[in-house]
Amino acid sequence: MGTRVTAPAVRARKVANGAEPLVMVTAYDAPGARIADDAGVDVILVGDSLAMVVLGYEDTLQVTVEDMAHHTAAVARTAPAALVVADLPWLSYHVSAEDTVRNAATLIRAGASAVKLEGGTKRVPMIEALVDAEMPVMGHIGLTPQSVHAMGGFKVQGKEVDAARALVDDALALVAAGVFSIVLEGVPDVVAQRITDAVPVPTIGIGAGRHCDGQVLVFHDVLGLQDGIRPKFVRRYASLKADGTAAIAAFAADVRSGAFPSEEETYHLPAATAAALEPTEVAGLYGSASMSG
Ligand code: KIV
Repeated sequence: MGTRVTAPAVRARKVANGAEPLVMVTAYDAPGARIADDAGVDVILVGDSLAMVVLGYEDTLQVTVEDMAHHTAAVARTAPAALVVADLPWLSYHVSAEDTVRNAATLIRAGASAVKLEGGTKRVPMIEALVDAEMPVMGHIGLTPQSVHAMGGFKVQGKEVDAARALVDDALALVAAGVFSIVLEGVPDVVAQRITDAVPVPTIGIGAGRHCDGQVLVFHDVLGLQDGIRPKFVRRYASLKADGTAAIAAFAADVRSGAFPSEEETYHLPAATAAALEPTEVAGLYGSASMSG
């Protein structure tokens, strides 16, 4: 295991100060976390995209703190060098600061080293409460999937001058509240650049162009593990759904034709033991009626 990435180390990663861009990818279980960590990512996000890519829901609004804790624990058990950040799901940080701190603590106790939450200026009291309780917070503004109904769908944000300025203000408010980094999702590149230039913490983009301090993609999108709508910012580096389907189909064909298992894939008794195992003794084990019937 390499040196573990910490929230302060991530906070220091501004490209404008000469840092290498941050790499973040989602993971939701132990094998996924091992793949991401062996690949050398800086941050593993146990995203609430769990809802869609793993649990089969339509949107992120369906996952609970318990769901997130369950999957965060699976990721954390692999003890990755990457920083493990867990998403606070919808309604886990909207009711009160006390509720927010308790829910975030559940994710930290499950093994996360930081939490992420969506929203701008209006989240400041919750972020301050989390930071006060010693929990590092990653912000997330722009297209915030937990606001899908309020936004009227998954739409690029900050396209008008006022909306773009409001996003810059949101980012500055998050920084003042104490976030160590900010995800920018679904915003025009110029807006992401303005925000990146305006804040002293790294921005991590998804559908936000090349001017961020890092990039994040969903594990299943990078590996081509799912079909369906593919936003234009997704670049696929493998086709594991197709490869996996072909592999399972080959296994099924081998079972049906008798080609699996082979002699090499079978446990054998020594010849003498097998010879001593008379058919009558085997029959005795099951009773003569069932063997003769
Ligand atoms: O849940 C998630 O996967 C995310 C990323 C898209 C940033 O929040």
